This record gives sequence, C-alpha cells and structure tokens, in this order.
Amino acid sequence: MCGIVGYIGEKKSTDVLLDGLSKLEYRGYDSAGVAVLSGDKMEIRKKKGRLKVLGDDLIKMPIEGGMGIGHTRWATHGAPSDENAHPHATASGDIAVVHNGIIENYMKLKDYLGTKGYTFVSQTDTEVIAHLIDHYYEGSLYEAVQEAMKRLEGSYALAVISKKDPDELIAVRKDSPLIIGLGEGENFIASDIPAILAYTRNVYLLNDDEVARVRKDGVDVFDKYGIPVQHDIFKVDWDVEAAEKGGYQHFMIKEIHEEPKALKDTLSPRITKEGEIDLKNLDISHRKIKNIQKIVIVACGTAYHAGLVAKYAFEEKLRIPVEIDIASEYRYRNPIVGPDDLYIIISQSGETADTMAAMRMAKKEGAQILAITNVVGSTLSREADYVMYTWAGPEIAVASTKAYTTQLLCLYLLMLEFGKVRGAIDELDYAAYITELKAIPAKAAEIITEDSIKQIMKSAHKHCTVEDTYFLGRNLDYAVALEGSLKLKEISYIHSEAFPAGELKHGPIALIEDNTLVITIATQERLFEKTVSNIKEVKARGAYVLAITTEKADLIRDLADEIILVPETMNIFMPILSVIPTQLFAYYCSVERGIDVDKPRNLAKSVTVE
Ligand code: G6P
Repeated sequence: MCGIVGYIGEKKSTDVLLDGLSKLEYRGYDSAGVAVLSGDKMEIRKKKGRLKVLGDDLIKMPIEGGMGIGHTRWATHGAPSDENAHPHATASGDIAVVHNGIIENYMKLKDYLGTKGYTFVSQTDTEVIAHLIDHYYEGSLYEAVQEAMKRLEGSYALAVISKKDPDELIAVRKDSPLIIGLGEGENFIASDIPAILAYTRNVYLLNDDEVARVRKDGVDVFDKYGIPVQHDIFKVDWDVEAAEKGGYQHFMIKEIHEEPKALKDTLSPRITKEGEIDLKNLDISHRKIKNIQKIVIVACGTAYHAGLVAKYAFEEKLRIPVEIDIASEYRYRNPIVGPDDLYIIISQSGETADTMAAMRMAKKEGAQILAITNVVGSTLSREADYVMYTWAGPEIAVASTKAYTTQLLCLYLLMLEFGKVRGAIDELDYAAYITELKAIPAKAAEIITEDSIKQIMKSAHKHCTVEDTYFLGRNLDYAVALEGSLKLKEISYIHSEAFPAGELKHGPIALIEDNTLVITIATQERLFEKTVSNIKEVKARGAYVLAITTEKADLIRDLADEIILVPETMNIFMPILSVIPTQLFAYYCSVERGIDVDKPRNLAKSVTVE
C-alpha cells in the first residue's frame, strides 16, 4: 500500500526519493509523485502509472533541491490519475503533503474548509490535510501540523514540507507505519526500512500519535501534546542484498528459494543442544500456558491460512478449543473474550490495519496477545504481550511464501511447547516431533531442486491458459488448498477456489466439466481413501486431476492425471512441504501469462487501510 519517502540533506533529493520509492514498489501502487523545495519554489511532479513514468519525466526535466517528499499511491479515494496522485498541495503551493492511510472525516473537513474559501482539485481525502495545515499555519509548520492532527480522524502517516519552513520536514504517524532514518548531515523518512537502507542502518521507529521534526542535523520527536519523546536507535541488522533480487528474475522466486534457509533460521536458535524447544524470548509462563481455556487466532490473507493449519493441529494434539477468524470479520462481530483465552495474532508485516484493529479490540477486552510476525519493531510486535518472530528475512513479493512456511513453523513450535507443558504430548513423542522438525528445512530444499522445478514449470506451461481451477483437500490439506488457491489467483489471475473435498457434492461438483483443472492436495494418510473417492467423482465428470501428494498414496498416484510428489514427513507437518509446489505452480503460471509477478494488479503487500 502507499509508500512514503522523505529526504533532507545535501544530495539531490529526487535521486534519493526515487531510489527509496523503488524499494517500496512491493507495497503496491498505481501512481507516484514528488514535491521538492527548489530554491524558493515548491516543485511538484506526479504521474499515474509506474515509478518509471515519473523517473523518465524527472530525467527530462530535473528538479534540483535537497529537501523533498515522495509517494507511491494505492488508490482509495478517487481513481488512479495524475491529479489524485500525491503530493497534494495548497493552492499557493506553500505546503505539500504525502499520506498513507484514510482520513475518515474528510468530507466533514472538506465542507468546513470550503466555508473558509479553500477549493479542491482532487477526489482524495489527502488534499484536505494540506488545506487544514494551511488553515492552522501561523508561522510554524510543526505547530500547524499538531493543530491539524486534532481534527483528523482515521489512520495516517504523513510527510509534510512547507516553503516557509525550508529547514525541516515534518513526519507524523498514527495507525500507519513510518520510520525515521538517521544519517550524518542528512535524515530520512520512510514507510519501511528497505527505502533507506542504502543510506543508513540507524532508525527511529515512530509510535502512534508522534510527530517528528526532521532537520539535516537532527531529529526531534514529540507526542501529540508537544512533549518531547526520547527514542532508542534501532539498528537494522540485515543487508541491502536481503531486499534485492540477487540474480533472480523476481522476488517471489528468490523468496521461495530462501524457504529452506528461512525455516532453518526460524527453527535452529529455538532448539537447544539437548533437543528441547527454547521459547525463552517469548517469556510466557507455564502457569499461563496451563491455564489457557481457548485459543483464538486472528489474521488476514495468507497469515489466516497459516492460522487454519494451527487450528487443526492444535485441536488434534493439544485438545484445546481453537477459534479462528479473519481480522476484518472479527473486528465487527461481538466476540466473547474469556480471561484465560490466548489470542494468537499472525501478520507478516505486523501492520495490517484490520489485524491491528482486531488485536486492539481483543486486548481491550482483557485478552493476552501472542504475536507471530516477521517485522521487528512492527506495530504488532510492540503492542502484543508476547512476540514470536519468523526469522524469514524481508519478504518483498506481494505474494507471501517464506513468511507463510515460517509462520507454520512457529505455530508448530508453540504446539509442541504447549503440549509438553500441559502434558498433552509425552516425552517420546515430543522428541520425535523435534527430530522431524529439524529435518524439514532439508526436505523443503528437495522440492526446490532443478528437476522438481522443471516438472512444475512444465505443468504450469500446460495449465496456465485454463480459466478456472478448483483446489480440493481435507483437514490440513484443505488449509493448504486454500493457500494454494489464493496464491494462484493473486498472481496468475486464473479464477481459483478451494473446497473441502467432502463438500464437493454440496455444490462445487456442478462446476466440473470436461478438462476442468482440479488440484488435489492429499498428504493425510488416514484420509487417503476419502480423497480417492473425491478424485473418482470429479474424474467421472471429466476433470483433469493434478495431485500434490506423497509416495505412500499409491491409489491416488494411479488415479490422478498428473502428480507432484513431496517428501514424506509426519502428517501433522505436511503443510510446510505440500504448500511449496503450489507456490511454484502459481509463480510459473504467472510468468507464463506474462504478469508482473511481484506486483500483481490491485494488490498491496501491506494493507494498512481498512
Ligand atoms: C495482503 C498481502 C498478503 C498477506 C495479507 C496479510 O493481502 O497481499 O500476502 O497475506 O495482506 O498481511 P500480513 O502482513 O498481515 O501477514
């Protein structure tokens, strides 16, 4: 979703802004723009389309100046267009603003500002912010922004500059991520770390309702009452290369290749020499674990699908009731939160607006929050009671891959730890589970060998022109079917749905006709026979069945038109492995169809608005 970059220093600011914005392209956007203080003029340039359109324009007509703000916009209010692109400025061009988020009361503010003589040239909610700041301006941009914030409702990260205040950028964070990069004689604002990593590793992670005055030679942060706030410097410990493609054609395929390592990095530091799980960093007491009456899992998208795997796994092995909900649904129902309920909130980014709202709602009702996130310092990690990081490294492609498999791994570690503490898993089983988990990264690597990839590429080549696909599975395989189906539709635009195989006869079977592609996930041994029946049913109606399964499933292998084999592991852990071929299949279908894999249309990596 929208990306913000700001710069103040000696460099040519448009270079830094464009470079930073290019590192935020993964967030998803449909237009881009910059505002630069150039001499005593505010120059604004903005273009619908890819960043390159703006870049080319800036090559033709460069803008000089060492202070500027830039933005990639993912349209919410008003279609993608030059006018609606950010920055938005006052009519005089004195003040320019870029914004990520949604101003919920913008219509009311627009009416109010209209009575004060302000006119509007875009359909955006953001334009009111520029006028509102102007309305309150009495000689200090910082003070005007603080005043304006009192009137703004909704979520917003802002970067603001003014002609009359040429020595500082103002940055604001409220329910939308924003960081400050600390340089020498220069400073930066950005929505996310990759935007500034080429320049500095020292960062302030702003909290909600904070306002930063960013000058060349320093940064001061204040709360909404104007009281100074001290921030510790957060040192980024990963390299620029981690956020680069490193020779791969797309981030997505690079990230799939990184899965074995990501799994290892997530697992190894949590297993002691004695073969025990060490979740010390999580700091959750045994008493708390023993008292859990119910687990509630809340998340969106792929993270939700990871939660669904955990529901099946936890209920089976721990015998604790597990509820799971999509965050946007959870926040608008009237959930009953018990004092001994544990909430597991899963979010790669730790910033998804609906997930954060659901987490806060549950917290307000007294729930204990355990976060599983990939981003150190994210909102989720800061507000949760317990945090477990997926150490997957930065995930840039919109379609989540290594974050999903490492989320599963964290959930399995929780399952084992809880099982041991609660006496639901005995010592022998516990040891066997851990031995098997340790083998998972190598088994994941077996799926990404040249030969396996060739087979999946061939299959994608064959099927990439289908119009519809149906994924089937039961139990844990159903959770994977949902994720495989999401992946395929996200990046190949092939219509795809997933059904629990047993539900087939209650409707979906009506959709099967000659050559309909049905992808069956079949890894759960006790359900093989049931799946065999479902395969027969769809084949009898003409379906072409592609089965993702294991050596053991001889009947399925004989029946399916095509099979992709995944290495064996314990049934409970199969989702980590069986999902990988679905990721690869989606990726190669997308490539075959000539789609911009890492930036599929209309989607955003981090959905920071509701
Ligand atoms: C977006 C992304 C998905 C992701 C979902 C939840 O829709 O495109 O890949 O699964 O948000 O994101 P989160 O960061 O909360 O895991």
